[in-house]
Amino acid sequence: MILPGNAPESIAAAAHSIGAGELIGLPTETVYGLAADAGSAWAVAKIFAAKGRPSEHPLIVHVADAGGVAHFADQVPAFASRLIAAFWPGPLTVILPRRDGVGKEAAGGQDSIGLRCPSHPVAQALLRDLLAGSQPVYGLAAPSANQFGRVSPTTAAHVQGEFGDALLVLDGGACRVGIESTIIDCTRGLPILLRPGSISRAQVEAVCGQAVLLKEELQNHIPQGPRASGMLESHYAPNATVRLMNAKALQTALDVLGAEIDSKKPQQPVIATYSRLILRSTSSKVLRRRMPDDAAATAQQLFAVLREFDTQGVKLIWIETPPEGPQWDAVRDRLQRAAAG
Ligand code: TXA
Ligand code: MG
Repeated sequence: MILPGNAPESIAAAAHSIGAGELIGLPTETVYGLAADAGSAWAVAKIFAAKGRPSEHPLIVHVADAGGVAHFADQVPAFASRLIAAFWPGPLTVILPRRDGVGKEAAGGQDSIGLRCPSHPVAQALLRDLLAGSQPVYGLAAPSANQFGRVSPTTAAHVQGEFGDALLVLDGGACRVGIESTIIDCTRGLPILLRPGSISRAQVEAVCGQAVLLKEELQNHIPQGPRASGMLESHYAPNATVRLMNAKALQTALDVLGAEIDSKKPQQPVIATYSRLILRSTSSKVLRRRMPDDAAATAQQLFAVLREFDTQGVKLIWIETPPEGPQWDAVRDRLQRAAAG
């Protein structure tokens, strides 16, 4: 059931569910999460079961503010504290050394823990309510609220489509950022970018005052870290087959295949395109959608666009390769994974 996130009764109902060890759908500024009490092994196990996600994949734990760090982590390096001060609340996750005996299941058994303080007012309201309760809940473990490997949800209706009407979902509107948080591993002595997001590598470097390595750059130096589902090659995959092409190849492919599919049944669209270039096509079986010229605007709508193409039942999704340049890193990352699916 979807409840309006801005109503105090909805927050109270969600807090009650969390207290009872249930799952809820939680809006954040990045994507919607499937949330449970991070301190309850039993509730956290339900997340893994509902998502079909392997239980050794660590989850991100959401806290109300920077004060929540001390409950879950210790030995926080100075550069991590600077990142928290600069970007929280907001779309940044820091991986920190985990405090013994806390959040083990949420962390997938790792001796580290991923922490994030979301800025979305509905997430903030719930986290504060939970912290103020007679039996305080210090954090919500919440991966993106989608089945394992699928496209992350950016509306309450997407979450309901993934998990059905029995799940309580707080409606916080369409997510402002649209793609998952930037993840920085702060457990290896220097900052490492595990997942690009709307907070860029350059912004992180400026705040840390030191270079930020990519996980690929690290592989030669340090043994592999835990497997993280956001890092699997194939992820964020719609049902349709996704291909990335430059604008010219896309137009050529459309000219060739567009004519061919037009002569065939059934009548529903077969190909969807998502491109900055305005493509020529006379085919009724080609859905064309403009990609914004701006990376942030593209990120905001990307997952909703992929889901909408799936809803229309297309078999192929052809996407124009995003421009070069660091501001497109996060969108490029998600598109490459979608195309690997
Ligand atoms: O924006 C977001 O981060 C969203 C919203 C709901 O907050 N959450 C999200 O969670 O994307 P999830 O579980 O889909 O992705 C979490 C990523 C995974 O790649 C996970 O493996 C990694 O964070 N992660 C979490 N804890 C970790 C740890 N201790 N060590 C390494 N990676 C970790
Ligand atoms: Mg996810």
